Amino acid sequence: MQNLSQVLASSAVEDSLQTVLIQTTDTCVAISDVLKQGSLAGILGMAGNENVQGEEQKKLDVISNDMLKDALLACPEVRAIASEEEEDIVPANTKGEYLIAFDPLDGSSNIDINAMVGTIFSIYRQTGDNPATEQDFLIPGKEQVAAGYVLYGPSSMLVLSTGNGVNMFTLDPKTNTFLLTEEGVTIQPETQEFAINMSNQRFWSESIQNYVNDLVKGKEGNRNKNFNMRWVAAMVGDVHRILCRGGIFIYPWDNKDPSKPGKLRLMYEANPMAMLLEQAGGKAYTHTDRILDIQPNAIHQRVAVILGAANEVDKCLSY
Ligand code: F6P
Ligand code: MN
Repeated sequence: MQNLSQVLASSAVEDSLQTVLIQTTDTCVAISDVLKQGSLAGILGMAGNENVQGEEQKKLDVISNDMLKDALLACPEVRAIASEEEEDIVPANTKGEYLIAFDPLDGSSNIDINAMVGTIFSIYRQTGDNPATEQDFLIPGKEQVAAGYVLYGPSSMLVLSTGNGVNMFTLDPKTNTFLLTEEGVTIQPETQEFAINMSNQRFWSESIQNYVNDLVKGKEGNRNKNFNMRWVAAMVGDVHRILCRGGIFIYPWDNKDPSKPGKLRLMYEANPMAMLLEQAGGKAYTHTDRILDIQPNAIHQRVAVILGAANEVDKCLSY
C-alpha cells in the first residue's frame, strides 16, 4: 500500500505544496494521538473562553489550534494562516507561497461523548512582497490548490484533493502514516439519505420546509421513494458519510438569527468540503450559488450549505 508521501511524490503536486501537506497531516496525526487519550490526558471540558463566533471553546479546540498554528508558522512555505479559533489571520513567512485556512477541530461538541470530530483545511497559492493580510485570503474557493480533512473516528482518515480527484487514506497506528485505502472516490448522483438538523425546521425558509416535507413523506409523497436520515453533528462526519455512500447534507439559511446567513463558515468548512464534493462528482451550493464561485468578504463569513449527490442537490435547489 502506498503512503501519503509516495502518493504525493508520484503526482504532479509541487514540492512546496507537498511539504505543506505533510506538515499539516503530520500535525493531525499528533492531534489524533492527543484525542485518543481522552479523559486520561485531563484535557476535556471547556477552556473557559469564547471563540470569535461567540461559541464556547473546548480545551481540545485550543490545543488543536495551537498545534497546527505552531507547525504551520514554522514552515517556510507558509505565507499565512487563518483559523476558526483565531480572530485575525496570522502572517507567517512573507516569502511563503501558501495560505492555509483551517477548522482545527470541527464538531467539537462531539468530544464530550467520544464521537467523531475532525480537522478541515483549505490551501491557496498566493505570493506577495508584504506580509499577508486578511484581504489576501479573500479568494473564491475554486482557486484552492488543495483541500481536505482528517476524520478522528474509530480509525483516523485523511481525505484529500489536490485538484485531481479525491483519495482516502487510513492512518496506520503501527507506523503513524497515512496509507492510501481508496483512490478516485465518486458520489452516485442519486440518493435516499439526507442530513439536516430537523430541530430547526420552524426557522427554515418555506422552500426548504417543502423540500424536507417531501423527503419525509417518502413513498407516500411525490418523491416516490423512502429516505433515511442521519445527523452526526460534525460536518466532517456527515461529509465523510456522503463521500463513502452518498447522500445530501443541508445546513440551510434560517431566521433564528437574521444576522447569520447560515451556520457554517465559508473559508474553512464550506469551501474545502465543496472542493472535495465536486472532485468526487457531487455538488455544493448555497440556496442560490455554487459555493466555489463565492467571492468571500471576510475570513469568518458564514454561508448556507447544500451539498452531496448531484441530482439530489439539483432537486433541493428546484424548490
Ligand atoms: O462547526 C459547526 C458544526 O459543529 C458542524 O460541524 C456541524 O455540522 C454543525 O455545526 C452542527 O450543528 P448543530 O449544532 O445545529 O447540530
Ligand atoms: Mn466546524
